[in-house]
Amino acid sequence: MTLTEIIESFKTKLDPSKIMNSLGKAASFNDESENDSEGNDSREDLKINPYNNSGNDSAKSSNAIRISKNGEDPLIKLTDVWKIYQMGEVEFAALKGINLEIYEGEFLVVLGPSGSGKSTLMNLLGCLDIPSKGKVCLNSKDISELDESELALIRGQMIGFIFQSFNLIPTLSTEENVLLPLEFQEEGRQIARQKAAYLLDIVGLTDKKKNLPSQLSGGQRQRVAIARSLAVNPPIILADEPTGNLDTKTGDYILGFLDGLHEREGKTIIIVTHDLDIVKYATRVVYIRDGEIEKIEKRTKNEP
Ligand SMILES: Nc1ncnc2c1ncn2[C@@H]1O[C@H](COP(=O)(O)OP(=O)(O)OP(=O)(O)O)[C@@H](O)[C@H]1O
Ligand SMILES: [Mg+2]
Repeated sequence: MTLTEIIESFKTKLDPSKIMNSLGKAASFNDESENDSEGNDSREDLKINPYNNSGNDSAKSSNAIRISKNGEDPLIKLTDVWKIYQMGEVEFAALKGINLEIYEGEFLVVLGPSGSGKSTLMNLLGCLDIPSKGKVCLNSKDISELDESELALIRGQMIGFIFQSFNLIPTLSTEENVLLPLEFQEEGRQIARQKAAYLLDIVGLTDKKKNLPSQLSGGQRQRVAIARSLAVNPPIILADEPTGNLDTKTGDYILGFLDGLHEREGKTIIIVTHDLDIVKYATRVVYIRDGEIEKIEKRTKNEP
């Protein structure tokens, strides 16, 4: 399979022009705007969804393309995956023989205590790292056969990352951080800026677009990270403790938002967390402890 074929076969069956249609309401992230946003002019401009334009491109709007070739192959498959960290003479196995298949359209929650290997696992699922032993396949393609530039391309187009520590660039403003993934897309600066504006509106940070990360609260930084993860409209979202630094209310907004991406946009969501409350959104829960999978539970969303 060529790289182009991999990427094509990864493209979501959903028309990307639908992106974010359902998410305008998430502007309620912006508590402050609830009081004064009626008829606000700047919001009028944002009614144009810049993601509609990208849907016109024929390759992207092909509804026939499924991420998995037959809809049954896993999107990501880990076979006997080990991650061993070397610290001088000492070896530490953070993951010990993980077998896991993740399918298109799942809302997968990986639940485990601190130090159980969740972030390590997320790095492997997102092709940010390679296993010490075992195999990681994306859409049946062994990632060890891809070089760094091919992996970067797949990550850039297919996966939106929300990192545990946000990973915002400290010297860039809110707006510039959101624009970053779009720098590598072949589209004009103006469309990229419209997209950034649209996403910042969705997460309620339009008025903070010039702020540096150091001039934002933890929850606001988290929202920038979310806006950035959505910039290229990726079919897969990988989030590491997306609510870890948030109060309950903001955390609920963020999860409702991710839930909307799953329910209405058909995105595959993978969250690693120690937060039991997130389980209620999941279609499947993987329990991990000391680098091993304890059990996997299928569940029905929103049931106790
Ligand atoms: N670069 C590294 N070098 C050595 N050990 C590491 C490294 N990264 C992680 N570890 C160890 O691997 C184990 C798993 O770490 P990981 O960050 O995956 O845990 P986690 O489940 O994400 O924890 P938390 O909930 O606290 O974020 C831990 O014991 C950690 O100390
Ligand atoms: Mg972690």
